[in-house]
Amino acid sequence: MPTQNHLIKAPFDPSPYADMVEELLNKMTVAEKVGQINLECVDDFEGLTEWNLGSPAEEGSIMDKLRRGCVGAVICRGFEKNTKLQQIAVKESRLGIPLLFGYDVIHGHRTIFPIPLGTASTWDPSILEKTEEFAAKEAYSDGINWVFAPMIDLCRDPRWGRVAEGAGEDPLLASLIAQAKVKGFQTVNPDTGYPYVAAGFKHYCGYGLSEGGRDYDACSINEQTLMMDYMKPYAAAVDAGAMNAMSSFNVLNGEVVTASRYYLTEILREKFGFGGFVVSDYGSVAELIEHRVAGDLKDAASIAITAGVDMDMASGTYLDHCEALYKDDSRFAEAIDEAVRRILSVKFALGLFEHPYNEEHPEFTASSESIELAREVARKSAVLLENKNGTLPLDKSKKYLLLGQLADSLRNMIGTWALCSPELPHHTVKGAMEEGNYSFVYHVGYPMDESEWDADLRASQFDEVLSLADECDGVIFVCGEPESWSGECSGSATLEIPGIQTELLRKLKEKGHRVTSVLMCGRAVACREISELSDALLLAWHNGSEGGAAVCDCIFGDCNPSGRLPITFPYHVGQIPIHHALLSSGRPRERYGRYRNCTAEPLYPFGYGLSYSEIRYNGAVIDNPTLSADDTLRVRVEIENLSDIPVCETVQAYFKDNVSSVPTPERKLCGFAKAELAPHSKVEVALLIPASRFALMTRDLREIVESGEFTLFIGHDSTCKLSLPFTIE
Ligand code: BGC
Repeated sequence: MPTQNHLIKAPFDPSPYADMVEELLNKMTVAEKVGQINLECVDDFEGLTEWNLGSPAEEGSIMDKLRRGCVGAVICRGFEKNTKLQQIAVKESRLGIPLLFGYDVIHGHRTIFPIPLGTASTWDPSILEKTEEFAAKEAYSDGINWVFAPMIDLCRDPRWGRVAEGAGEDPLLASLIAQAKVKGFQTVNPDTGYPYVAAGFKHYCGYGLSEGGRDYDACSINEQTLMMDYMKPYAAAVDAGAMNAMSSFNVLNGEVVTASRYYLTEILREKFGFGGFVVSDYGSVAELIEHRVAGDLKDAASIAITAGVDMDMASGTYLDHCEALYKDDSRFAEAIDEAVRRILSVKFALGLFEHPYNEEHPEFTASSESIELAREVARKSAVLLENKNGTLPLDKSKKYLLLGQLADSLRNMIGTWALCSPELPHHTVKGAMEEGNYSFVYHVGYPMDESEWDADLRASQFDEVLSLADECDGVIFVCGEPESWSGECSGSATLEIPGIQTELLRKLKEKGHRVTSVLMCGRAVACREISELSDALLLAWHNGSEGGAAVCDCIFGDCNPSGRLPITFPYHVGQIPIHHALLSSGRPRERYGRYRNCTAEPLYPFGYGLSYSEIRYNGAVIDNPTLSADDTLRVRVEIENLSDIPVCETVQAYFKDNVSSVPTPERKLCGFAKAELAPHSKVEVALLIPASRFALMTRDLREIVESGEFTLFIGHDSTCKLSLPFTIE
């Protein structure tokens, strides 16, 4: 057993390793230093013969590079493969410096949790700390010691496909989730005393602002909003002790981030206090040429290394050019030395010099606990959007028509960015209904690609559906988007779900069938027609390897849905950007800000979500309605469960700064708490809200809490009406 617990204290501080790092640095040749700042992608060799590493004698092969100390880290998973690679680095290279093994562990590794936008709907950072602890253990057992996660880009434009990977629109919710995830990943392995994996938050910074939702596109926003909202989750991840950050591909406010000393060094290191290393995103150092801010690859390497990109992911640019740069100019030599120091510090902090080889733990992989957690999180991520006339929960003794290709597709249940095949058991909705012995018949309903069904086929298939529906007591219609419509490079110009699905629903309703729709998607969708037509609508997202079972739990009443939207659902794509913390307009938005052909309101507001219970807010009190800027607002709220079943309520608090020196949002989330209520019970929920959450950002980028009158809004979602005044002195 280890004698010491090397838990990373926040923010990550490299100073305890400085002497060891310096000693090693002094022994390194320039080529070896350059090796440390080079990340190779060798995952492609999966399934190929003999590791596809080439022979040690073959110049340029991975084997050769590892032995010459030309690689500091690799993107690769697989216990045996990584052990083999580590052996080469440790035993056959001159200095024996261990490798980092990085991998994308975005929502679980072998046990897959719902997509991150889904798990953000739990509004429960503590359960997300747990999911990442489980993911870290599965990844560790698969040879990984560094995860390219959490992804914490704030996003208010669901056209962007990568909205699926983050925690939605709000800086407070996203920051609390970012912190929890970093802590969960960096859980200490009791066998070694060091964290299982290093967490690498991404994509720093502002990537979620991609113009028009087009991936990799330029981003522009005023610096006040950038600092006040978009930067918060990254700062929170730094505070939680993340050892790594990934720089983003995009241009932000006129600078390519990969080339920006301002964002990578002045803000990330000097302002936020980040002490780990920065890795570029895939190939982005070389892409400086496409951005036309570098004339050639050597130029690109010089710009990125001096900006603060410590490690080059997969472009080979540092490997090919940094040795020459080192010799050309002491400025580059210093930047390269500094980058090597940062990377070595993280290797020491992970204990790799003592324990270079991961241990295989088959019991970590898809353990019964992790599968149970996946089911629990998937239940808690589901958001009940509609439940007309108490349609849900469904009666288990009745017979149902289960409808839709998405009900029978494991890949689509699991969601984007699940790179390794999930471990059994796993359930689609159909699989879960079979296993649960529900009485049902299944029909595919629609093809994912509408063009596959011509008008005749459509008509005959719809007729089949309608006659099957006649034989059943109700319809469960699983609709939405396939997983490939969200994720990287999967922007969408529309937000509607495919027309063929709506057409089918319309036909069912024309015949008077009762339809429970289960919506699977990786973004906020404009699902107005589905929500109007459906008797009940459950948003399931792409909800991971236990998703189908969790859907059944929710619709058949084995759990009471409690998820809340972490992102606003618009009526129409044309309303974007739309979110709960808009600045006030000089004229009432409902009247003057509306569109000629659409309301200014969203379809479903941020924080929204129903349950099977009626919850009443009986009142709220602020214990200290006058407080100072370094104090904490203490609020007590009484809520009551008027139903016969237990329920979990997320009490939300929003604030408005009544008069401020710069424009501030109409309201903005400042706190929330979850409360479990037994049937017919009341509870008093305490909210402790640090006054720092009432801050604003001045034009010269000072975050300050101004004295004056404020309003606190408390309730069930971002439209809540219960309000209380308070004063900051
Ligand atoms: C993505 C990153 C990912 C990296 C490595 C890039 O294309 O933007 O999020 O971590 O690839 O897979």
